[in-house]
Amino acid sequence: MADHDANAVPVLRWEEPPEGPVLVLLDQTRLPQEESAYVCTDVPALVGAIRELKVRGAPLLGVVGAYGVALAAARGYDVQDAAEHLAGARPTAVNLGTGVRRAQAAYQRALADGAQAEQAAARALAEARAVHREEVAAGTAMGEHGWALLRELLPGGGLRLLTHCNTGTLVSGGDGTALAVVKAAHRAGELRRLWVDETRPLLQGSRLTAWEAARDGMAYTVLPDNAAGSLFAAGEVDAVVVGADRIAADGSVANKIGSYPLAVLARYHHVPFVVVAPLSTVDLRTADGAGIEVEQRGGHEVTELAPGVPVAPLGAQAYNPAFDVTPAELVTAVVTEAGAVSPVTATGLAELCSRAGTTASSTGDGMMNA
Ligand code: MRU
Repeated sequence: MADHDANAVPVLRWEEPPEGPVLVLLDQTRLPQEESAYVCTDVPALVGAIRELKVRGAPLLGVVGAYGVALAAARGYDVQDAAEHLAGARPTAVNLGTGVRRAQAAYQRALADGAQAEQAAARALAEARAVHREEVAAGTAMGEHGWALLRELLPGGGLRLLTHCNTGTLVSGGDGTALAVVKAAHRAGELRRLWVDETRPLLQGSRLTAWEAARDGMAYTVLPDNAAGSLFAAGEVDAVVVGADRIAADGSVANKIGSYPLAVLARYHHVPFVVVAPLSTVDLRTADGAGIEVEQRGGHEVTELAPGVPVAPLGAQAYNPAFDVTPAELVTAVVTEAGAVSPVTATGLAELCSRAGTTASSTGDGMMNA
């Protein structure tokens, strides 16, 4: 799936020039100004790209984690060391560790079966491609399930949907997660407006979601995050659709900082708050929201608009968690590729995972230190 058709957004591709294999990323920090490629020839470069959010979004982190292991294997680096560094690059999205472990497990299984290092590297690459294919397919299915759910919840059509952060093509190469549902509504001619939270401090909404909405010809409006309340009060929001970085067994949802206040607003205003995420984001091994590690990022992201452009006094301290956790009781539904859970309960989530034949995010567990 790394080698898509020419019209697709080139979020990531694997290339094999004579100097050795490379992973080519669309540098998301440069959007919307320019579509520039960032070429990773080694794992430290990829780990840096993940930390700087050149590549981001839960499903894509799983995909690049897997490709990172394949890159280490193909270039003859220490695969276990690479896997540990990759999996530890960011803590909240469960997909990252799962993608890494899947490729690592494929590599180690091949070696255990007597394969040469080169063949084992090819198996790791095949697994990375499988992770990528699955996330693209999940996006298509989530779009269908989520749109069916919205039609049921809001039969009138002509929807005004509010979203936060970026959850579209840029997070998988396919339709994405929450934005897949928005795209389905748009294709059906039923999207009246997409409200795009700018998503401070790194502006994934205004830089990335608005860029995707414009490419797709949607009617969209960017708003500062703190304007959402007045939109709800004016009756301008029919539903909120967001993604997730990790969903705990009790249905608590970790997603981009600012999601939780939207869920509170939605509840107060009797508006559905719908979370759209692949099963690879459901982490049944984490019992509840308190068990989810929330990434804390550097204060400069808050105190500077860009490097060298301060918006706070020199030396100001800043609070900059990258995610917040929304309790299940505020979530109307969790939509996955295998269908929706509503109301969101531990039992409902566990049953969905078991029906789908997955233990959600447990694949390859234990391989990191094998
Ligand atoms: O810090 P980011 O940009 O990686 O955060 C991304 C999000 O919070 C998305 O909403 C989440 O990954 C779900 S997208 C599939």
